[in-house]
Amino acid sequence: MNAVDPVITRHDLFMTRNYPRYAITMVEGRGCVLTDTAGRKYLDLFSGFGAGILGHCHDDLVAAATKQINKLWHVGNLLHTEPQTRLAEEISAKGFKGRSFFCHSGSDANEAAFKLARLYGQGRRYKIIATLGSFHGRGFAAMMATGQDKVRTGFAPFLEGFEHVPYNDIKAVARAIDDQTAAIIVEPIQGEGGVNVPDADYLSELRRLCDEQEILLIVDEVWTGCGRTGRWFAYQESGIEPDIMTLGKAVGCGLALGVMCAHPRVADQFDSSVYGGVPHATTLGGNCIATAVAARMFEVIERDGLLKRAATLGESIMTRLREFGDKTGLIKQVRGRGLFIGVELASEGAWFDKAADVVNRCLESGLLIGSAQTHVLRLAPPMIVTDEQVDQGLTQLEQILQGGA
Ligand SMILES: Cc1ncc(COP(=O)(O)O)c(C=O)c1O
Repeated sequence: MNAVDPVITRHDLFMTRNYPRYAITMVEGRGCVLTDTAGRKYLDLFSGFGAGILGHCHDDLVAAATKQINKLWHVGNLLHTEPQTRLAEEISAKGFKGRSFFCHSGSDANEAAFKLARLYGQGRRYKIIATLGSFHGRGFAAMMATGQDKVRTGFAPFLEGFEHVPYNDIKAVARAIDDQTAAIIVEPIQGEGGVNVPDADYLSELRRLCDEQEILLIVDEVWTGCGRTGRWFAYQESGIEPDIMTLGKAVGCGLALGVMCAHPRVADQFDSSVYGGVPHATTLGGNCIATAVAARMFEVIERDGLLKRAATLGESIMTRLREFGDKTGLIKQVRGRGLFIGVELASEGAWFDKAADVVNRCLESGLLIGSAQTHVLRLAPPMIVTDEQVDQGLTQLEQILQGGA
């Protein structure tokens, strides 16, 4: 690590210091390998919080970006562009025949979803039910939906109309619904909350409840979408369709892109002719380069059979870690789906206290993984990770958990 790296010194002078960054500056990425200023290599099994779904500088994405960069960047959303339409078509075909609104981040996408839900509720129904432990972003509404108080500290006064219920508790949702409820927002698998996988019937029960009560089901697929769990979208595991789906992270493959995709019946409320003006907008939403790359990402995942690969590779990673946990007692639980994996650590008697201790040690030895909450490690490798890289990373992680380097 290089504490006197001028990039870091200048960062401290010229950038807000809101991120508790490591003293490492990355200069290059290729596949699942990053290189820092000192030329040191890191195996990336976290994909930059899930965004690098096809790794770094994937040839097909570089080609798609380059082609688009040389052709057209931005025209404003009063004109049509082919990459936007193509991406919307991909999302509709892979998902539930919805219509897409493009923005820049997962938080943005959720803000759009809440505005659409309020329009759909026609002033009578405006409340959003969300779950404890959830994460939906940092915008003023997304922050309110997030089921973790720490994201709101210092930001009062708050936007009204958000209520939280325990995750994976259908009865609690039923109790929370009243005649002002517009929607429930839920992650198919909670990410920042600790990779919490709900019961197999949770989403289908939520769907049933939403239908009965005529409220909207919003699935936040910002972490789970675009193939990470072995399906295009994680809700598909439950055999249901949401009314609204939000995407971020992986959909842009590392470029700034968020998507709010709604069933046409609901999306109609965002129709400028229905609303009588522009109900929601953002200047750069769906810019040509990000959407061209995103559309290509869907094609590459399909062409290379990466959904199946994510499902089977994820199973084998989880099996190996469970066996390691049984042998060593260092792991309480391994959970997840596909390449979205949480490892709850057992710290009693171990050298580490928190998951962050392990993440730090991994980084020192050239392995990038993440953590969630206090005791959960997160693995979310790019879908192009090789068997050898997985073996290398897991061997390194197992050694580190046992106190080695
Ligand atoms: C499930 C979920 N939704 C929304 C967000 C917010 O996305 P962004 O950071 O792109 O605003 C996140 C970010 O981690 C997330 O995990």
